[in-house]
Amino acid sequence: MCGITGFTGKQPALPFLLQGLSKLEYRGYDSAGVTLVNSRKLKTWKTKGRLSELEKKLPNDLAQSCGIGHTRWATHGVPSNMNAHPHMNSDNSISVVHNGIVENYAVLKKELLEEGYTFHSDTDSEVIVQLLDFYYRRKPVMKEALMRTVKRLEGSYALCVTSIYEPNTIYVAKKESPMVLGMSKEGTFCASDAPAMLEYTREILPLQDGQFAILNKDSLEVFDTDGKPAEKKWIHFPYDVQSAQKGGYDSFMMKEIHEQPSVIRETLRGRFRGTHVVLPNIEALDVDWNEIHETYFIACGTAYHACIYASGLYQRYTGKLSTAVPASEFRYSSPNVDGHTLCIFVSQSGETADTLAALKLAKAKGCPTIAVVNVLGSSIARQTDAVLYTAAGPEIAVASTKAYTTQLVLLHVLILKLAELYGVRVKGIGALIRDLKRLPEITEEVLKNEPFMKKCAGMLKDQRDAYFIGRQLDYPSALEGALKLKEVSYVHADAYYAGELKHGPIALIEKNTVVLALATQPDVAGKTISNIKETVARGARVILVTDQTMRADEFKYVVRIPELTPSLSAVPCAVLTQLFAYYAAKEKGCDIDKPRNLAKSVTVE
Ligand code: G6P
Repeated sequence: MCGITGFTGKQPALPFLLQGLSKLEYRGYDSAGVTLVNSRKLKTWKTKGRLSELEKKLPNDLAQSCGIGHTRWATHGVPSNMNAHPHMNSDNSISVVHNGIVENYAVLKKELLEEGYTFHSDTDSEVIVQLLDFYYRRKPVMKEALMRTVKRLEGSYALCVTSIYEPNTIYVAKKESPMVLGMSKEGTFCASDAPAMLEYTREILPLQDGQFAILNKDSLEVFDTDGKPAEKKWIHFPYDVQSAQKGGYDSFMMKEIHEQPSVIRETLRGRFRGTHVVLPNIEALDVDWNEIHETYFIACGTAYHACIYASGLYQRYTGKLSTAVPASEFRYSSPNVDGHTLCIFVSQSGETADTLAALKLAKAKGCPTIAVVNVLGSSIARQTDAVLYTAAGPEIAVASTKAYTTQLVLLHVLILKLAELYGVRVKGIGALIRDLKRLPEITEEVLKNEPFMKKCAGMLKDQRDAYFIGRQLDYPSALEGALKLKEVSYVHADAYYAGELKHGPIALIEKNTVVLALATQPDVAGKTISNIKETVARGARVILVTDQTMRADEFKYVVRIPELTPSLSAVPCAVLTQLFAYYAAKEKGCDIDKPRNLAKSVTVE
């Protein structure tokens, strides 16, 4: 995720670009940059760090009335001055900002290198400006050069182009990444999201996939993929600036819950070719895979729950030994590990002190290490042998939601890759990959249960406790559900293996105690249902999450997840329990995005 702004008008562009970018910092903030145009040249300023760092670099007297701006959330190439946008062609006549992922950038870059082009950054985005340059030199018509360029791009993009050739014009194109347009008496503008322009107008024109637009100071033209004029569908934006930054949701947690379909899609992008798993940096590791005897999955908090899930999955798919361990335990456990032990670290921030210390210990013991991280260029990402990035974008709410589900998905992909490297054939891999790819739509479907989960959360109104139960791969989902509820609503919640209930915890069940049962694993779902009956007999109010086929007529509150390979149901379960926690917190009037005593990134022990 990145933030983009563009302005061409009758007054200086910079104030719009900067105020717009400040409203978009929720989309990323590891570097920032602007290009301003006058008739003879492009002037570009960019820097690593937040927008405030860029502002310190800018002279006071910038009067150019056309320009583009960007705040970055790095996906290819660490946050740095060099990798910050805008990117320019070699004679500094064209400037581009981009949000999205160019999946085939390596192929395009190779082609352009062969044509004699030089590259100055590690980003995928730079190929766009070089490709534009390539086509523009062949035929100097920017509209055509842009159309030919975007036809070559695989993946997602929202991009703005400005050049010395048409100094008052901005070209805009979009596929799968957001871009909105607007006009007012001050000029014509574009941005990744409406909050950037709400000070100027509430009439917003969202660009559709495949469309592109040409912005001039008093005109705005929209075209379809073939360059023919397209119908403009304006909408009136109903929110004020503050609520618009949260996409109209009342908290970042809720916004991030709803972003899950799209970030899961981004995380899966380009990971499969048929049934082959495409993770080149894992393949490139100098590891004798037949000599790996044991694997540790290591993390803290929510990421640790992703590790418990991954460990179960790993044993199931590879038949090899594995253990999930909290990083705070691993680092002090004098672990018996060596070059035959693969250590996999999971972290949203990539900065958690215990996880980093555990990584250093594993490396000191000679273990091969892999990390699954969200923040590009973070300490854990830098220090591991190979890193895989979840594409969750910035997660602002303290309680992790979209980072967790993208971890589940990417760990799944990684484990399939490891099975491949071990020479193990995973049964039903074709169907599994098909279902992995369906997860964005499935998540969308599961989100429709929001009103129902709200109703279920209402059961907690006068309750101080709740219990989450599940077996096998439902168990980490129970743990994560309980953690989410504790974190945001302060309701005491525990998670148990459903079969363990009768060995103690059932003593706590009394009239109206809330039990959320996860029974999505067909082999054991029936057993879990028997366990719930034992709680109902003692007065519990049960919410049952199960698959499409399980008989559950005797329960009043039942959610059925869409049909899906059972090993993937941790994703729908996470979404449902996140909604449950959110509405419990809302009912109790808690500060949802900033729960008491918690920090988003724990960089101290
Ligand atoms: C903190 C956060 C949790 C997070 C944990 C691990 O406790 O509040 O939401 O799961 O740190 O963070 P990491 O960035 O390593 O995933």
